[in-house]
Amino acid sequence: MESRRIAKSAVGSIVTLGAILLLGLAGSSLHMQAQNDGDDDEASRIEKGFKIAPVPLNMAGKDRSLVGLGSYLVNAVGDCNGCHSSGAPPIGFYPFVTGKNPYFKQPAKVDPTVYLNGGGSFGTIGVVGTPTGPNGYAGPAIISRNLTPDKNGRPEGHTLAEFKDIIRHGIDFDHVHPTCTAAQLADIQNGGTPACIPTGPIPTSPGQPDYQNDPDGNLLQIMPWPTFSHMTDRDIEAIYEYLSAIPCIDNTVSTPPAGAPNELRNDCGK
Ligand code: HEC
Repeated sequence: MESRRIAKSAVGSIVTLGAILLLGLAGSSLHMQAQNDGDDDEASRIEKGFKIAPVPLNMAGKDRSLVGLGSYLVNAVGDCNGCHSSGAPPIGFYPFVTGKNPYFKQPAKVDPTVYLNGGGSFGTIGVVGTPTGPNGYAGPAIISRNLTPDKNGRPEGHTLAEFKDIIRHGIDFDHVHPTCTAAQLADIQNGGTPACIPTGPIPTSPGQPDYQNDPDGNLLQIMPWPTFSHMTDRDIEAIYEYLSAIPCIDNTVSTPPAGAPNELRNDCGK
């Protein structure tokens, strides 16, 4: 009797031990599966990125994973080309090849000749509710920039560190429309239209709201950096790497931002 009881409880503990081991294995394999899903997801985004890139890519010296991921973020998520193209105006019209516009139920084909070359005009910042200056001056028209790389392979001529500052903090390193100086405000008072953003609070025309904003001309307007600022470092690096791999375009067709005649031009080294 005694020996049988010992045997039974021994069997019991082996069964229990087995169950614990099995549970443990199941747990860790579930965990591994979750991790693999993460890797698979990134891998499929990278492949998708290469599939949807609308232009040939210069992969020389590039990190393949970053370029693919960057293409995915630019072409499937960020809609950068929806704004940063000379084919973009009027506002929000994605630049497609004629006859290949999905909004007209045609098979979509992005126009590679104006891809990310800038020049989309968004009108004055007055349209987004920022205060107008003396005489109702709303500041210069806001125009999207050329994002293609120059002959040195730097997207819109900026370093990665600068690019991160642009995406995280909306800093305009080109100072295309700085905050108006006192002299410029006086100029506006006399009917001038200098390429600067008027400061508030602003003497408004009758019936116009005074937003009491204090605009900073060094901040990019319209560009969705407040949203993009939440991206991970790797995502921003991926976008930069992708933008380094697309073809250079020297945009001679668009009206450049006031006061910055060369802003859309690009030295492609040709
Ligand atoms: C809703 C329109 C819009 C979208 C979408 C958009 N941008 Fe912009 N972006 C702009 C405009 C307009 C400017 C210029 C703003 C100004 O002059 O104040 C700008 C400026 C920039 C600049 C500064 C360029 C320079 O020379 O300093 C960079 C870089 C940039 N955008 C990158 C991107 C990237 C990358 C994406 C996609 C992930 C993107 N933008 C999506 C409208 C947009």
